[in-house]
Amino acid sequence: MVRRELATPIQFSLDIDPILEANCSVCHSGLFTYQNVTNNYIDAGDPSNSLILLKPSGGVGHGGGTFESWKVGTQNYRFLLDWISEGAEP
Ligand code: HEC
Repeated sequence: MVRRELATPIQFSLDIDPILEANCSVCHSGLFTYQNVTNNYIDAGDPSNSLILLKPSGGVGHGGGTFESWKVGTQNYRFLLDWISEGAEP
């Protein structure tokens, strides 16, 4: 599914945006722009405490529910976690 060069930081535009589009835009169309995500939905100092991970993984209540493919340890979860940990590059 996701292919990347290990030396290259994960990028929002190339890597993360398509995942959020595919998984979240049915309910959150237009919400997860780079600016909005980095300003409001990530915790750079504690990546696993990011709302964008807590909501779909079931870490906190979510109007959209908990998604099996977003639980802690899934590929989606780890990929977003790594993106945040690597500095949330655009
Ligand atoms: C079936 C519809 C639905 C889908 C799909 C969905 N959500 Fe949500 N989401 C909601 C609803 C409804 C709310 C508002 C209630 C709440 O805060 O839980 C919400 C709220 C949120 C919030 C808080 C927004 C805020 O400003 O407080 C985040 C973050 C979030 N969702 C992340 C995601 C992510 C990431 C995905 C995709 C992996 C996703 N959601 C997919 C319905 C959905």
